[in-house]
Amino acid sequence: MTGKDVKKAAELLSKGKLVAIPTETVYGLAACIDNNEAILSIFHAKNRPAFDPLIVHIADLNWLDFLVSEIPEKAKRFMEVVWPGPVTLLFRKSDQVSDLVTSGNPTVAIRFPSHPMSLEMLRLLGKPVAAPSANPFGYVSPTEAAHVENQLGEKVSYILDGGPCRVGLESTIVSFVNEPVEVLRLGGMSLETLEKYLGEKPVLKISTHSNPQAPGQLDKHYATSASLILSDDIIEDFLENRQKLVGLISFQNGYPDLAFAHREVLSPDGNADEAASRLFAAMRRLDESGVEVILAERFPDEGLGRAINDRLHRASHRKP
Ligand code: TXA
Ligand code: MG
Repeated sequence: MTGKDVKKAAELLSKGKLVAIPTETVYGLAACIDNNEAILSIFHAKNRPAFDPLIVHIADLNWLDFLVSEIPEKAKRFMEVVWPGPVTLLFRKSDQVSDLVTSGNPTVAIRFPSHPMSLEMLRLLGKPVAAPSANPFGYVSPTEAAHVENQLGEKVSYILDGGPCRVGLESTIVSFVNEPVEVLRLGGMSLETLEKYLGEKPVLKISTHSNPQAPGQLDKHYATSASLILSDDIIEDFLENRQKLVGLISFQNGYPDLAFAHREVLSPDGNADEAASRLFAAMRRLDESGVEVILAERFPDEGLGRAINDRLHRASHRKP
């Protein structure tokens, strides 16, 4: 069931149910941090492998004391600037955090989202929730309540509808576990902005392969059902695929001379933030349109364009 009842969402969570919650990045599938059975049901609902750890969502910096064993000074300054916002921080975990949440890792990923409905809900609940993106494992993340309803419907007790997600890409994951600071996933905060707030250049540790350090960074993530080609030459790739029904995701150019069966032009004005907020919904519409192949134009590698390219690159890995 979908609705805007924050109190109901908190009550269901406290009873051990799964609730989808809006954040500024993507919708999350939440369970109470202290309920192992509920945490396990997240993995079942998403068909997610147990080795892929969950992000813990907080609504109060004081909740960190319970979750984290130590916070470096540098991280304290950083979090005060970037939170609430589209950034997840990795710390050494405390003994209180269940191994189910962290998949046995000695670290815990924590995020303070900025969506007012979820913050209100978390404050009513009075404790953190663990929440991965609310999509079946391997598929595109949901950026609207209806996306969750369509794919996880009966597996979720309630979907808290906070409207379309403002940012539209998952959070940027930054690890303070080692020196220097590492970026494990590109996301809703651009590297440029991150660097400005951090005051130093983080090391990029973004893997395109299965990586035990960031197990979610697997191949075939964020994938559409139709096969997607990340293209450096849309015209050439269109001609190569013209026997098929071809769809387009592009930044500004709609390629009016090519007979695409479905077009998704993400930002005619050339604004990468706007493009990011529209990306996942566009990928879903392309799948629904029944195209066989999706040609995705490579974005300029700056700002959120970098994270968009990362998602398109992962989506372009073929399903087995
Ligand atoms: O924006 C977001 O981050 C969204 C919203 C709902 O908050 N959440 C999200 O969660 O994208 P998920 O589960 O789809 O991706 C989280 C990724 C995991 O796949 C994993 O790579 C990484 O975070 N992660 C979580 N805990 C970790 C840990 N202890 N060590 C390394 N990576 C971790
Ligand atoms: Mg996910």
